[in-house]
Amino acid sequence: DQTINILAIESSCDDTAAAVLSNGKILSNVVATQEVHQQYGGVVPELASRAHQQNIVPVIHQALSQANIVKKDISAIAFTRGPGLMGSLLVGTSFAKSLAMGLNVPLIEVNHMQAHILAHFIEEDGFDKPDFPFLAMTISGGHTQIVKVSDYFDMEVIGETMDDAVGEAFDKSAKILGLPYPGGPLIDKYSKEGDPKAFKFPKPKVDGLNFSFSGFKTAVLYLIQKETKNDLDFIKKNLYDICASVQYTIIGILMDKLKKAVKETGINQVAIGGGVSANSGIRQALRDAEKKWGWKCFIPKFEYTTDNAAMIGIAGYHKYLKKDFADYSITAQSRYKF
Ligand code: KG4
Ligand code: ZN
Repeated sequence: DQTINILAIESSCDDTAAAVLSNGKILSNVVATQEVHQQYGGVVPELASRAHQQNIVPVIHQALSQANIVKKDISAIAFTRGPGLMGSLLVGTSFAKSLAMGLNVPLIEVNHMQAHILAHFIEEDGFDKPDFPFLAMTISGGHTQIVKVSDYFDMEVIGETMDDAVGEAFDKSAKILGLPYPGGPLIDKYSKEGDPKAFKFPKPKVDGLNFSFSGFKTAVLYLIQKETKNDLDFIKKNLYDICASVQYTIIGILMDKLKKAVKETGINQVAIGGGVSANSGIRQALRDAEKKWGWKCFIPKFEYTTDNAAMIGIAGYHKYLKKDFADYSITAQSRYKF
C-alpha cells in the first residue's frame, strides 16, 4: 500500500494556489489572492500573470511545508491546464512541467471547471459526497454552467451562459450602484436588509438550459439612470431594496434553469460550486428545494468554492488512480472544453 502525494497548482485567473493531498486527503491548501486588481474594478490579465510569477514559488513552498512534505515524497504534479487567462495559465503550466521533469514524476493536467465539480469529493467531516449521476451548477465570476456528471471525468455541459457569468451580473450591478469590486458579497450583505420585491427586473428569455445576464445588467443601469435623474439620492435611499431585488432576480434566473434541468434529466441531486455559491440567497433556495421538492443538494465548504488548488488536487488524484498522465510537452489551453 503506497502513499500517493499530489502537489496541485492552480493559476487560471487571479489566485495563485497550491495544495498537497495525501491519498485524496488535503494536507495543505494555500491561496495567494492578488489585490492589485481591486483598484481597476476587475482582473487585469497582464498584472495577473506578473503576480503569479512572484507568488508561485512562495505559495508552493508554503503548501509543502504546511503539509510537512519534502520534494522527494511527491508522487505527481497536477496543474490547471485551462480554461482561464492564457498568461496566468502559462505560469502554472510551465512551472508544473518543469517541476515534474526535475523530480521525474508524472504530470497530470486538470480542467478547472471539472475541478470545481470534483471539489465535492474532497474528504471533509460533515460533508456528504454526491452519487453519480448528479447535476452540478458552477457559478462564479468567470463561469456559469449546468453539468450532468455521470462519473469523475464523464461530464456533459447541458447549459451555459451566452454572455456574462452570474458573478459578473452581481459585480456589474454593484458597480452601477457605486460599490467596490467585487461587489457580489456586498449585494448579498445589503440584501438581508431589503425588500426583494421592491424593484422588478425582467428575466431573460433564453432557450433550453442556457443563461444570459447582459440584458439584466442593462435593466439595472436603466433603472438607476432614470431614477437618479429625478432624485440624486435615489441609490442612497434605496440601496438595500435595490440589492435585495437584484439578488432575488438573479437567484430566480438560476433556480428556474436548475428546476428545468432536474425535470429534463430526472436527476434531483444538485451540487453547486464557484464563488457565487457563497451567496446566502442561492444557499437558501437550495435548502428550500430539499424541503419542497425532495432534492438532495450539495454546497461545498467555503474554501473549496472559490478558486483553489485543493480541487485541482482531488481531480489529479482521481486521474492518478487511472494512470491518466500528461505528456511533458502539453500546453495551456485558455478555452478548454470537456
Ligand atoms: O470563484 P471565484 O472566486 O472566482 C472566479 O470568478 O473564478 O468567484 C468570484 C465571484 C465574484 O464575481 C464575486 O462577486 C462572487 O463570486 N461572489 C458572490 C458572493 N461571494 C462571492 N456573489 C454573490 N454573493 C456572494 N456572497
Ligand atoms: Zn473558478
